[in-house]
Amino acid sequence: MPVLPEVDADAEAIAAALSAHGACRIAGFPTIDLTHALREDARRLWQDNALARAAVGRGGTHALRGDIRGDMTLWLDDARCGDAARDYLRQLDALRVGLNQRLFLGLAEVEAHYAAYPRGTGYMRHRDRFADSDARVVSLVSYLNPAWQPGDGGKLRLHVGDSSVDIAPRDGSVCFLSELEHEVLPAQRERLSIAAWMRRSSSLHGLPRTRARSL
Ligand code: OGA
Ligand code: MN
Repeated sequence: MPVLPEVDADAEAIAAALSAHGACRIAGFPTIDLTHALREDARRLWQDNALARAAVGRGGTHALRGDIRGDMTLWLDDARCGDAARDYLRQLDALRVGLNQRLFLGLAEVEAHYAAYPRGTGYMRHRDRFADSDARVVSLVSYLNPAWQPGDGGKLRLHVGDSSVDIAPRDGSVCFLSELEHEVLPAQRERLSIAAWMRRSSSLHGLPRTRARSL
């Protein structure tokens, strides 16, 4: 798959693309205005030291592994986040409802965090599902770097079947099935994004939300 299909921020189109390809780009989500507001919010929170080093694994294997992932994160439902984060979560949840009506995936809730990758960091090849949980079904990453240049690195490399596709983390979103393997190539400058997931009900699976993820 040399390029991903690109669709508008419309549940019908996204559902069709996910069914056919397992992944797509979403143009215009979030809007340019909301992208700027989210970027400012993320930068403010990062400067205020509200973002924390992300960990890998759960329970006994939970660990800080800068060699695996170098991002700093903060959940968007944290009280320190601004209005932009609340707007984004509302829109994401509306999208979840729309996808659920079409794909019958039992998507019960959304979760999302800001992610800041300091210069030189990335995230090694992984899946967004824990080995012991299939709660995460759909992954959605929104990019907050409108001035990103081709030489800045930091691409998302998504592995689909036998091939892979690279996506620059400029703006808009990419949506993919959480079972797909992907990686963040080292960024040559600070890289801001939101990583979000649509999940099956955690009460059904008895698994609390956690920042950590398995490889
Ligand atoms: C993640 C992730 C991709 C990206 O946070 O799990 O894979 O492009 N992010 O930021
Ligand atoms: Mn991931």
